[in-house]
Amino acid sequence: MRLPGAGGLDALRRIKERRPEAVVIVVTGYGTVQSAVQAMKNGAYDFVTKPFSVDELKMLLERVSTHLKLKSENRMLREKVKSKQGFGGIVGRAPEMEKLYRIIAKAANSVHPVLILGESGTGKEMVARSIHYSGPFRDKPFIPVDCGSLVPTLIESELFGHVKGAFTGANQAKDGLLAMAEGGTVFLDEVGELPVDLQAKMLRAIQEKEIRPVGSTRRVPINVRILAATNRDLEHAVTQGEFRRDLYFRLNVLSLRIPALRERRQDIPLLIAYFLERMARASSQEKTLSDDALKAMLAYDWPGNIRELENCLERTYAFTSGPLINTTDLPREVANLPALEASQSAIGNGSSMGRGKIIPIAELEKQTILSAITELNGDKLQAARLLGIGKTTLYRKLKDYAAQEYSA
Ligand SMILES: Nc1ncnc2c1ncn2[C@@H]1O[C@H](COP(=O)(O)OP(=O)(O)OP(=O)(O)O)[C@@H](O)[C@H]1O
Ligand SMILES: [Mg+2]
Repeated sequence: MRLPGAGGLDALRRIKERRPEAVVIVVTGYGTVQSAVQAMKNGAYDFVTKPFSVDELKMLLERVSTHLKLKSENRMLREKVKSKQGFGGIVGRAPEMEKLYRIIAKAANSVHPVLILGESGTGKEMVARSIHYSGPFRDKPFIPVDCGSLVPTLIESELFGHVKGAFTGANQAKDGLLAMAEGGTVFLDEVGELPVDLQAKMLRAIQEKEIRPVGSTRRVPINVRILAATNRDLEHAVTQGEFRRDLYFRLNVLSLRIPALRERRQDIPLLIAYFLERMARASSQEKTLSDDALKAMLAYDWPGNIRELENCLERTYAFTSGPLINTTDLPREVANLPALEASQSAIGNGSSMGRGKIIPIAELEKQTILSAITELNGDKLQAARLLGIGKTTLYRKLKDYAAQEYSA
């Protein structure tokens, strides 16, 4: 605890910053038990008071090892639970979905890459999981990689790993996600967002079945199955030179398209029932939709697909106090209270002063963003790109709008 220069607490903080998963044990003299307790609060696993015996230390390390094993078992269990929802948990009886189930079953027993296409929120990740968990390697890891949210400078080491000293801060060698999935599946989510230079490296990894960790001169063999998903038109991206043709062909050996929710409207009531039941179980509180609310939900287009439907019900469930959900409890776009009218009435205050044409910039921005998303069928990444704003900014704004809606 008492180190020259920096204190132990400070060291602990910095270790946890760099390697949140690290298990830290603090060693302290008798006088500083209090600060050891503080250390526990700051994320230390345990503390040892000096002087300590080797046996004591051994016992502690055994405990650490059990702790780590439990942790990884937990993670596997969590994945298993998710997998249970997998194939069976995909709700939908529309003919397009039945066709999809057959393709999933076929894909599960193949080792080739599968490209999963579908608008945002249609269940691409869910389908990827069910391909993995219905296949022969279901006991091996399923590792999802969100190519859109990785920090560009770190993607390469994230995917392929690095050797000690590969770059500043690489104090320790680290396995990449492709190596961690050994024997199992890597799910390249939003693969269309992969930077072009990494597309070449990914192609090589798939073709040669080997990777080169950052900073290493040696190639390491890998054995993983690749699943990829995108809500972008990759073919178009290829013609635009934004996505490598050869990688596209590699990933697209088998492809499968999940229909948008509005293309299989008969599944909407099924999904509503499924989510309502799930929420009733989770909150041990049953709520039903009024006829009009149900009608509004059935008539709505769901540009954000199942995710939007799930979110809509979740939020509505949380914000409705009684057992009955009315149309007015639904988000405005679903309830179909014309958005423009609402914004006009907000502006109406000004019009009485003879300035009816003046629209607040924030309102214009909101309309622009929402209509862009609708126009692009819920594709927020593309909307952010075309609007020239970052995707984080877009998500933040959407969150603000939702909050406004509920406070209104
Ligand atoms: N057929 C389905 N039945 C039940 N739940 C579903 C179904 N499809 C999707 N969901 C649920 O909808 C949500 C979105 O699914 P998922 O994350 O797989 O979609 P996605 O296509 O990857 O979306 P995004 O493009 O936004 O990443 C998840 O909570 C998932 O559990
Ligand atoms: Mg997804």
